[in-house]
Amino acid sequence: MQEKINKYIHDINSITISSIEEATIFHKKYLSKKGLLNQLFNEFKVLESAKKRELGPLLNNLKKIITEKSQTLKIDKNDNLSKQSKKIDITLPSSYEPVGSLHPLSQVKRKIISIFEKVGFIISDGPEIEDDWHNFSALNMPKNHPARDMQDTFFISVNPDMLLRTHTSSVQIRYMNQTEPPIRIISPGRVYRKEDISARANCFFHQIEGLYIDHDISFSDLKKMITYFLKSLFGEDVKTRFRPSFFPFTEPSAEVDIYWGLNSESDYRITKGTGWLEIMGCGMIDPNVLENVNINPKIYSGFAFGLGIERIAMLLYQIDDLRLFFENDIRFLKQFQGLS
Ligand code: PHE
Repeated sequence: MQEKINKYIHDINSITISSIEEATIFHKKYLSKKGLLNQLFNEFKVLESAKKRELGPLLNNLKKIITEKSQTLKIDKNDNLSKQSKKIDITLPSSYEPVGSLHPLSQVKRKIISIFEKVGFIISDGPEIEDDWHNFSALNMPKNHPARDMQDTFFISVNPDMLLRTHTSSVQIRYMNQTEPPIRIISPGRVYRKEDISARANCFFHQIEGLYIDHDISFSDLKKMITYFLKSLFGEDVKTRFRPSFFPFTEPSAEVDIYWGLNSESDYRITKGTGWLEIMGCGMIDPNVLENVNINPKIYSGFAFGLGIERIAMLLYQIDDLRLFFENDIRFLKQFQGLS
């Protein structure tokens, strides 16, 4: 038996296993149920104990050599694999992964928010389904006030006191109710008005409204803030003008125009031949509104402003049909990839 073992050791040491076929043959010959190793162990079992003690270590050594040999191919295989991976050409173009982009309205919204954040405004949010008080009454538009007609409203039929907010001024009421001045907030969000859908109007759109309340705030602070905003958005050279206007919740009120120019036929069309474009509404908060939210108008004053995000996006990207924003046509949306 000792001779047999030594012979096997010699044989195994002289074999190289370099293919799966060779490994299979090797395994079958030495390690299978009826393989040589098992045969030797069967013979070993019936030996006398003195012989067992003598041959045991030798047999174990053989077992170790056989097991190690049977693993060489696995190691080789891994080796080959790592050699192969070195051959991968990393300069090849990768597979195409389509990347989405932000909706143009989101891009414009973010741009506007970041301009106001730079001067200390924070975002304030509120519900789209609102009650009459927050949307109208608290804003100096009591029931039957004719100014309510400025914003044709969707009422909730089961509860006529509830409606889809017509502006995000309702958020300002909520915020003022809860917070002591100084206040500096902007409220972006979707608003609803009962309008026929056309290239220039929709039954919902998006607004950003702002509110600034502190001691001694005057119209010149409002003018400075709006001018800063419009310069940041449209460039240093933008020409602006403030036109007297009316909103029930501000006094005095103004509308702000920018000079768009009259260089092309479409400029004539969108500015109605004047070169000026209305951009936003604003004004000093009416003392009645402050009283409605328990802020003393003798101590505090402030201004508010509001603008439509769609309108700004249409100007920035020269889009002349509002409906494009809501149709989710991928050919339209793709054009805004990579812009910010
Ligand atoms: N809430 C007004 C609107 O939706 C906009 C506005 C806000 C005007 C604040 C003046 C001051 O039309």
